[in-house]
Amino acid sequence: MSYALITGASKGIGKAIATELAGRKLNLLLVARTESLLSELATDLCKRFNIKVDYLAIDLSSVNAPSQIVAWIKDKGYVVNILVNNAGYGLSGTFEGYSANEHRDMMQVNMTVPVVLTSLMIPELKKQPKSYILNIASAAAYQAVPGLTVYAASKAFLLSFSRGLQYELRKTNISVTVVSPGGTDTDFANRAKVGTKAVKAGEKLNMTPESVAKLAVNAMFAGKTEIITGFINKLGALLVWLLPKKLTETTAASIYNQD
Ligand SMILES: NC(=O)c1ccc[n+]([C@@H]2O[C@H](COP(=O)([O-])OP(=O)(O)OC[C@H]3O[C@@H](n4cnc5c(N)ncnc54)[C@H](OP(=O)(O)O)[C@@H]3O)[C@@H](O)[C@H]2O)c1
Repeated sequence: MSYALITGASKGIGKAIATELAGRKLNLLLVARTESLLSELATDLCKRFNIKVDYLAIDLSSVNAPSQIVAWIKDKGYVVNILVNNAGYGLSGTFEGYSANEHRDMMQVNMTVPVVLTSLMIPELKKQPKSYILNIASAAAYQAVPGLTVYAASKAFLLSFSRGLQYELRKTNISVTVVSPGGTDTDFANRAKVGTKAVKAGEKLNMTPESVAKLAVNAMFAGKTEIITGFINKLGALLVWLLPKKLTETTAASIYNQD
């Protein structure tokens, strides 16, 4: 009996991915900080879909979190064939408005955890007939975003890491998919403390976490390397590629009040 391990499963896109996988009768291991939300979701998904669900409440910004997750999986004897690196967050405002520790914690969650967890899990994933790694990047991965500078850079890292890893593993049983959502209706903007201008811009264009999750899970099982969710976000990435960088950066800066 195999399980899908999902980080950041307590809410938003991670919760929707958990629900989407549960709907496909897959057993789940949920990871995030908020135990009450994980427990509630585990109970709900077990009942609704008659699957096995366990959870671990842990702060992924702590250095040993990935090895603690792997130790928990080993202790419980779980077999994992899907790894979803979804947990992540942004910090909006000036780079200098945050301490070095705040930047480091976010980089830990957005970049180091996906890399270290993937590295620790690959030997297990290789033992299964077919395994999947699904990484949640962002439309912000395709350009510098003044006002979300470190966040956008961390997602560019995750995008590049995912593509390189997919190529390296292409002849193995593991496929790697990276999904870049644009604005999605979750707690992201709240935690990132984005200003009203960005929230208002998002309100018109935001996708639901459920629709993002469905696209992400479909892409993962189809073995796609990279997708951007939604037509507008695909168009945005194309324009970013075509237009001068100064222009796209000035536009982003104006949304995040950095002009
Ligand atoms: N929403 C968007 O517009 C958008 C757009 C592009 C990409 N994304 C990406 O989508 C992913 C999911 O974000 P979301 O939009 O669903 O935001 P969200 O609703 O804030 O969910 C974030 C998830 O990550 C978990 N998490 C955050 N910090 C953590 C930590 N230190 N340790 C453990 N878990 C932690 C949260 O759980 P706890 O709070 O319980 O720890 C939660 O389950 C992120 O990687 C984000 O960058 C979002």
